[in-house]
Amino acid sequence: MSNSFFKTKSIESILKESDEGAKLKKSLTAFSLILLGVGAIIGAGLFSLTGIAAANNAGPAVTISFIIAASGCAFAGLCYAEFASMIPVAGSAYTYSYATMGELIAWTIGWDLILEYAVGAATVAISWSRYLIKLLEKWHVAHIPYRWMMSPFETVKIDGVEVSGIMNLPAVFITVLMSLILIRGIQESARFNAVIVALKITVVVVFIALGWSYIDEANYANYIPANTGAFENFGWTGIMTGAAVVFFAFIGFDAVSTAAQEAKNPQRDMPIGIMGSLIVCTILYVLFAHVMTGLENYQNFKNEAAPVALAIAATPYGFMQELIIIAILAGYSSVILVLLLGQSRVFFSMSKDGLIPKLFSDVHPKFQTPWKSNLLFAVLVSLFAAFVPVSIVGEMCSIGTLLAFVLVCIGILVLRKTRPDLPRAFKTPWVPFVPIMGILVCCYLMYALPLDTWIRLFAWMAVGFVVYFAYGKKNSKLNKSGSESGPNSNVLD
Ligand code: ALA
Repeated sequence: MSNSFFKTKSIESILKESDEGAKLKKSLTAFSLILLGVGAIIGAGLFSLTGIAAANNAGPAVTISFIIAASGCAFAGLCYAEFASMIPVAGSAYTYSYATMGELIAWTIGWDLILEYAVGAATVAISWSRYLIKLLEKWHVAHIPYRWMMSPFETVKIDGVEVSGIMNLPAVFITVLMSLILIRGIQESARFNAVIVALKITVVVVFIALGWSYIDEANYANYIPANTGAFENFGWTGIMTGAAVVFFAFIGFDAVSTAAQEAKNPQRDMPIGIMGSLIVCTILYVLFAHVMTGLENYQNFKNEAAPVALAIAATPYGFMQELIIIAILAGYSSVILVLLLGQSRVFFSMSKDGLIPKLFSDVHPKFQTPWKSNLLFAVLVSLFAAFVPVSIVGEMCSIGTLLAFVLVCIGILVLRKTRPDLPRAFKTPWVPFVPIMGILVCCYLMYALPLDTWIRLFAWMAVGFVVYFAYGKKNSKLNKSGSESGPNSNVLD
């Protein structure tokens, strides 16, 4: 294999380039970065998967699954924090890999991140549509156009007749709306996100506070249900599988790092944004899961599309179900917003490096956002959300994200060896323990995902390599200039 695959970009040139040409607007503070993280994190995972993981994998011990998933994220998050404060550019894991492991791995991760950001946004958009159906049913809307609210692969029984979908129009609507907000500006997007996050946190806190006094201790009697014989059903192996399932609920904290180029003081604020949002969400998640499985027996969450509504029904506050669904709908919108933000920013960096066409780094003269990229992803993600069922996309998003986390952890180990001299505003503590633990936990969570998810990952990567060899490699600025550093080079530009 040609050595050019492993040619790395020097950090000095990455930083220099980020200061040249079309620029993104720098307006985000530490607080708005934490809010961006929380905006991306709390969503379909918490409100839909907690019940599923309790019913199928962990019982009330889903709280422990949350802690295990959070620890994997914390190890990876500390590595992200070091990179993001050292290389504060929009490419995130893609750029960190370019600087440490060379172009081919960087491409792999950039392509892989589409699974996290674009496919993740599609997953949540489809889930959004489901809660919308739930709301319309609660409002007794007479003729719900089910066929136009589901993908062609999904069916629903209406009056005993099976109806299959044509396309998921609400998912298209929410995707396009969030893309338009992103195009309008980073500050406007951050403001919209802040309002939604306030609402989302209020709902979660109110649920915990009101639900706490109605917990029925009997529901915890079988806290770690005995394993049924199948690896994933209960016992400690079930808890671990539950951790892989609820991992989706943490996805998004790393999207903070894609906003590095738009932060006012990234060196100080990136670690605060990444770790701050992760800590806030972990505390809320564990309490939320504790209350939820205390209100209702875990077995009753099986096949329950809106488990939160079921848990609330066990309190005298049943009337709040609709309010909560509205807040969940709003909450999902900010997840879609921040994931789409992450997607366009990673492609912004890849485009600047020549690996994908220039249109992805064209910045709007007035709004200072990569608007063409936002528009294109609005179309692509909409199409995906409109025609693909949710069961396929969720796990694709998790496996893609875990792979990115593993490579970021490896990147820290590599850079500590190859560039110990670089100034690091934030240093990952206990290296190599933390990155190695990040790699182990994330690999385990990947291993716990089903085989077809792995097959889809390989298929997706194969498509990526075709694109790379057909376009990226030929147009790579690094390959063209040939002036950058080699694999272990310490050359300063
Ligand atoms: N963490 C995000 C969610 O749960 C992706 O919706």
